[in-house]
Amino acid sequence: MDDKKVILSGAQPSGKLTLGNYLGALKNWVALQDEYNCYYCIVDLHAITVPQEPKDLRRNSLEALAQYLACGLDPQKSTIFIQSHVTAHAELSWVLNSITYMGELNRMTQFKDKSKKSEANLNAALFTYPVLMAADILLYQADLVPVGEDQKQHLELARNLAQRFNNRYSETFKVPDPYIPKVGARIMSLQEPTKKMSKSDENENAYISIVENPDAIIRKIKRAVTDSLGRIKYCDEQPGIKNLMMIYSKLSGKSIEEIEAMYEGKGYGEFKNDVAEVIVEGLRPIREKYEDLLKNKDYLETVYAQGADKAERVARKTLRKVYKKVGFIPRKFLK
Ligand code: TYM
Repeated sequence: MDDKKVILSGAQPSGKLTLGNYLGALKNWVALQDEYNCYYCIVDLHAITVPQEPKDLRRNSLEALAQYLACGLDPQKSTIFIQSHVTAHAELSWVLNSITYMGELNRMTQFKDKSKKSEANLNAALFTYPVLMAADILLYQADLVPVGEDQKQHLELARNLAQRFNNRYSETFKVPDPYIPKVGARIMSLQEPTKKMSKSDENENAYISIVENPDAIIRKIKRAVTDSLGRIKYCDEQPGIKNLMMIYSKLSGKSIEEIEAMYEGKGYGEFKNDVAEVIVEGLRPIREKYEDLLKNKDYLETVYAQGADKAERVARKTLRKVYKKVGFIPRKFLK
């Protein structure tokens, strides 16, 4: 196990995971489990950068764990844990803050977007969020970080911080590489196909959750915004159709060219029916497993307890090194 390369990734428990999260990230997480030593976390510390109802956050975090497992993450193969259980994340984040420039964080497009939405109540955590994300990654000496396209800039910062720390204090961190799928790295909103699909969208018709019931899936795909060109072609001029084709391709394994050929001369109605069916069938086993897992809270507790234990050991080791290098006196324990 030790000679395997390391992967770390995570998702926010700020609602149900979406088809975007699944196709952009989780599907890869599952596929990479055998080949890599994987750490997958539920990033609850990140989630409080926007206001959360405490009881919803608790429920969403546990449900996110059930969704991870339902997608195929296996606690026998991967370390699956809740971020706030491993306090080294917040601790390393503080140290990394001290080598991060305000200008770097100001350039983050996700911060710019999110801050526009909550201008009245901008909190400092939203600003330093990418530093915490860098801490998540660097604590485990990750080689590879499987994410969707929207996280690329954050990952670039993690790389810069790793290199900067290494230059200033001597070699400490692995410099991680992003792992982004060729198709499906950016699944778009079903209502505004020029915007990414997001679990925090106010319009529920804009996204499909990975545990959505079949009727809702069919309804949402029927309502998905398309265009008036009336042809099924993968091009930027038709962002709605392009998005549906991407989803279809990722879930069915058919190439974009095959799909174009299959629907040559056919209408949007028929295409949408088929897309909906592929999604319903693709997500069915996930939803069924998820519902089963939710009945077994004890099992979920065991998984996150074991995960935190394993993650903690690795994270502490890195943090100890970091503390030593920056000049903190190691703590002495009374007998
Ligand atoms: P989050 O919770 O927004 O999303 C989780 C993962 O899903 C991907 N994703 C998408 N992929 C394709 N199409 C979409 N519409 C779409 N929406 C989301 C994201 O790219 C991500 O991979 N900051 C991160 C969580 C995080 C993290 C980390 C990730 C915290 N620490 C360390 C990797 C490593 C986030 O908010 O993801």
